[in-house]
Amino acid sequence: MKIAIASDHGGFALKRELIPWLREKGCEVTDCGTDSEQSCDYIDFAEKGCAEYLSGRADFVILCCGTGVGISIAANKIKGIRCGLCPSVEIARLVKQHNNANAISLGGRTTSPELAKEIIEAYMDAEFMGGRHQARVDKITALENKQR
Ligand code: RB5
Repeated sequence: MKIAIASDHGGFALKRELIPWLREKGCEVTDCGTDSEQSCDYIDFAEKGCAEYLSGRADFVILCCGTGVGISIAANKIKGIRCGLCPSVEIARLVKQHNNANAISLGGRTTSPELAKEIIEAYMDAEFMGGRHQARVDKITALENKQR
């Protein structure tokens, strides 16, 4: 499994904790920054992480900011990205099963590393259910392509 991971300063500590754990699990991890707790803009790191997925270099993206909210809002502005904010294991499972999310976001200030690991495992173990959910995902794509 190839994973791109990115954070702002608010998600940096969580990202730093997750990377070795993911590598120990056998995942190929690309760290898209940031590289310190110095203040930065989560928008830039949403873009860097999602670029790895869109270019085919990652199977999915993990994005971390203080709450997981800002970086998910930014990621969801990028064509082709469906990012689910995952504060719980149940939501992590559902964002894959129902939404076929290709990115998940986590709050470094709101989610412990232990819970974050359970969330990532739940997302990775889940499978997209297709069917009516595929039709809805297709509608999201159509919405994305609509001219205004
Ligand atoms: C940075 O202070 C914080 O606003 C950011 O990490 C994130 O929580 C925004 O949604």
